[in-house]
Amino acid sequence: MTSTLPKGALHHSTVLITGATGGIGRAVVARCVAQGATVLAAGRDEEALVALCKIAGKSVHPLVYDITNEQAVKDAFRDIQKKVSDGLIPPLYGLVNNAGVMMESPLSVTSMDKLKLQLNVNFLAPYQHMQYAARLMSRLRKGSIVNVVSMVSEQGSAGMSAYAASKAALTGATKSLAKELSPVGIRVNAVAPGFIETPLTDHYEADARKKVLQRAVMQRAGKPEEVADAIVYLLSSQSSYTTGHILPVDGMFTP
Ligand SMILES: NC(=O)c1ccc[n+]([C@@H]2O[C@H](COP(=O)([O-])OP(=O)(O)OC[C@H]3O[C@@H](n4cnc5c(N)ncnc54)[C@H](OP(=O)(O)O)[C@@H]3O)[C@@H](O)[C@H]2O)c1
Repeated sequence: MTSTLPKGALHHSTVLITGATGGIGRAVVARCVAQGATVLAAGRDEEALVALCKIAGKSVHPLVYDITNEQAVKDAFRDIQKKVSDGLIPPLYGLVNNAGVMMESPLSVTSMDKLKLQLNVNFLAPYQHMQYAARLMSRLRKGSIVNVVSMVSEQGSAGMSAYAASKAALTGATKSLAKELSPVGIRVNAVAPGFIETPLTDHYEADARKKVLQRAVMQRAGKPEEVADAIVYLLSSQSSYTTGHILPVDGMFTP
């Protein structure tokens, strides 16, 4: 599949992508590189990140940290700021809060640990990333943040209350921060994927997969590249008059 964006839509821009070694993350890295971006690929698995950088090319820089470690996030942004000041990379223009965890469990057996982990990874860490990114972006009065939420946060799904709540929190923050950060030139949007073929959905057995996919008008799973194309559109100036938008990439899921 090829992108329809004009070539070089992200030229002279640095984009930080969390969860870069995951299914959607890899596709976003590849699409951003294809559009001329300098990519900061963030993840926990150093080996996988180094391998990704080898494939993706010189414009991809690995950043190894756990996004739930507040000090590590702070250090990562300090590192980014230093690289920019030293002229090694262009200023930070884009942030893709893509890392996420999904743990299905009914209310009665959802432990506080599972609940907190999903809130930490899917909401608190992206929020902290937006805080630091906005500080850097506001200096140039230019930036675009794209959060990866989920169609589940709007429609709900039995056995996914914790995950849905964590993504709904990020959806609310997306809309509020779009209003708050517009005066300093930063747009904040989100994509809401449906069922996408990635390691996150690998565990679905054939029957469960069929049942989920029947809810999509398009009757098929999405590809990571289809989500990545929507993310790159929202990052780029092609969407310069769009902020606070939650873009579904779900083949039209119906409740
Ligand atoms: N696939 C779908 O159907 C679907 C649908 C709706 C929304 N989404 C959302 O799309 C995003 C990407 O998911 P995906 O499908 O690409 O899943 P994935 O392949 O499992 O990727 C998730 C990524 O998040 C990273 N991550 C998790 N916890 C982390 C932490 N504490 N610190 C740093 N990185 C962490 C993982 O890194 P490790 O490899 O180190 O664990 C992995 O790279 C997620 O936010 C997910 O909720 C996916």
